[in-house]
Amino acid sequence: MAPKLSIEQVSMEYGSKRLGRTKVLDTIDLTLADGEFLAIVGPSGSGKSTLLKLISGLERPTAGRILLDGESVTAPPPGVGFMFQRDALLPWATVAENIDVGHELAGIPREERPDRVAALIRLLGLGGFERHYPAALSGGMRQRVSLGRLLAYGPQLYLMDEPFGALDAQTKLLMGQELLRIWTTHRKSVVFVTHDIDEAVALSDRVVIMSSRPGRIKTEVAIDLPRPRDARRIRRTAEFRDIADLLWRELMGEDEEVSA
Ligand SMILES: Nc1ncnc2c1ncn2[C@@H]1O[C@H](COP(=O)(O)OP(=O)(O)OP(=O)(O)O)[C@@H](O)[C@H]1O
Ligand SMILES: [Mg+2]
Repeated sequence: MAPKLSIEQVSMEYGSKRLGRTKVLDTIDLTLADGEFLAIVGPSGSGKSTLLKLISGLERPTAGRILLDGESVTAPPPGVGFMFQRDALLPWATVAENIDVGHELAGIPREERPDRVAALIRLLGLGGFERHYPAALSGGMRQRVSLGRLLAYGPQLYLMDEPFGALDAQTKLLMGQELLRIWTTHRKSVVFVTHDIDEAVALSDRVVIMSSRPGRIKTEVAIDLPRPRDARRIRRTAEFRDIADLLWRELMGEDEEVSA
């Protein structure tokens, strides 16, 4: 089957008169199968957010090309949902309205939308905050609203940039669990950027490790742990720890064991 997404020889340079040119991504080759859950891990500044912006068509690569369903991405394509590293909520819209934007984008009939919003609010533990504005929410709550909007949109390809970075450890686990449940039901393609190796292993089918700037793909590791997974319990298995340790070593560029 043709891949959902195909990134071919993609490089990216930013340039400005004042700061000169910076090479951010260097000849990235990567494909994503339909329904695959891919995690990307790499040091700060290695171009992970840039790569997601290129995939989403918000920016164009300096070299190479990106194909979505075989078509070259030249502008933001429909069916691609982006959860940004910094939340991009509408400040003048309430929690419920921000989530509902996703339904509107997806063309969900107006009469179905209130029930769907209510279900998402429950799912995300935002009950009682429906009428709050983003400024009156914590960072973690704003992230959950962003996730709600993404789920309301229901894209074919989910681009998630450290979606759970602002959450406490417990909520992060719960949200990961929930994302896994939703993904298992719908099997959409996901590109999930995180700094958390355990999170990457628990959720994904494959983890890509990027080098520091300019970002290159250092390693790809298939995560052949059984599914469906319990995001919490799986972390206690020996297989999980072996894969996570391997990824740590790759990330740190070391051959010997990383002592805990
Ligand atoms: N619009 C821009 N103009 C100029 N340089 C940029 C721009 N966006 C990003 N960069 C540069 O590109 C490099 C990669 O940034 P990017 O945000 O993709 O990294 P990242 O891997 O997502 O980092 P983090 O883990 O900290 O989120 C950085 O050096 C950054 O300064
Ligand atoms: Mg980033």
